[in-house]
Amino acid sequence: MHDDVENVLLSAEQIESRLAELGRTIAADYADEPPILVGVLKGAVMVMADLARRIDLPCEMDWMAVSSYGSGTKSSGVVRILKDLGADITDRRVLIVEDIIDSGLTLSWLLSNLRSRGPRSVEVCTLLRKPEAARVEIDVRYVGFDIPNEFVIGYGLDFAERYRNLPYVGVLKRSVYED
Ligand code: XMP
Ligand code: MG
Repeated sequence: MHDDVENVLLSAEQIESRLAELGRTIAADYADEPPILVGVLKGAVMVMADLARRIDLPCEMDWMAVSSYGSGTKSSGVVRILKDLGADITDRRVLIVEDIIDSGLTLSWLLSNLRSRGPRSVEVCTLLRKPEAARVEIDVRYVGFDIPNEFVIGYGLDFAERYRNLPYVGVLKRSVYED
């Protein structure tokens, strides 16, 4: 375990087996028409890579990068597109792949942005969901794990761009960000 990690919340094995389950469910739900998977950079890279390989359908994969303006660590809901989709999603079935939903503000914005482009459907798959997310009106169809309200890193998630490459999800030690 890395020195800056307080405890491991989800091991690589737990993540792998949950994504395999979700992949099977998604493949069954989309058997008629494979979805276009839309990963949200950068956090969702690991989830996308591992989930996509567990969906036994010929899915397209595309990416968006967004930044939410906000003070400090809280997102404001005001979002800017840094990188847009390459694909036209008109009449397509879209599945957004996310690392974590916290306040849900970023995702709400993304959902209305993508829905305005005339897709047949837009659903969401997130590896992690924090408690606050339950208070906003977003229907997240696929959730890997509901986790406590702590700052987590690893498996794509960063603190100041570090720790994304940890193979597990861990709680960041307070001493790292409370200096
Ligand atoms: P919302 O809009 O749902 O924002 O509040 C979700 C985004 O906030 C970031 N986030 C985290 N990143 N560990 C992280 O590394 C966390 O515990 C955490 N909580 C929220 C993340 O960028 C996510 O996309
Ligand atoms: Mg993210």
